[in-house]
Amino acid sequence: MQIARLYLVLFVLIGLGISACGGENTENTESAATDSTMTMTSDVSMEAQIGPVTELELGAYDAALAATGQAAFGDKCSACHAMDTKVIGPALAGVLDRRSPVYVINMILNPTEMLESHPDAQAMLAEYAVPMIPLGIEEAEARAIVEYLRGEG
Ligand code: HEC
Repeated sequence: MQIARLYLVLFVLIGLGISACGGENTENTESAATDSTMTMTSDVSMEAQIGPVTELELGAYDAALAATGQAAFGDKCSACHAMDTKVIGPALAGVLDRRSPVYVINMILNPTEMLESHPDAQAMLAEYAVPMIPLGIEEAEARAIVEYLRGEG
């Protein structure tokens, strides 16, 4: 009887030992996975994490695209923005020297989330007091506006 009990205790202890080891291994794998995700995240700029655009390589300057962008800017942006003077929003001349293309296009496509989550946009909002509003712009049109802004550097 005594011996049977001892075996039982041993079994339980061994069982616990194994599951404890298993638990530890799982934890290690999990924390390794978390670490690598964190590394990946910190490599991606805040504006790319906010989206919708995550990457934007500006190639050779495209004057025709910029002309399309200029017209769209006149319709949809000029009530609040000019190039060299502050209107309701900041002057936009040279904005692509201060901000990444992804920042600028996401500000056009998704100002609400940019203002909620991006520290630089939050600083602008603190200065201008009025939030830039979502304008229902398609990505292709926003890209054309970026080309226009690029030419106005
Ligand atoms: C209702 C006014 C309003 C309209 C319309 C508007 N904006 Fe803005 N925009 C602002 C304000 C105000 C800010 C500064 C951040 C804030 O307070 O929201 C801003 C910020 C920006 C910024 C960031 C500038 C920087 O230096 O970080 C860009 C780029 C921009 N706007 C582009 C545009 C474009 C392009 C359009 C047209 C598609 C547009 N905005 C339409 C008000 C407006």
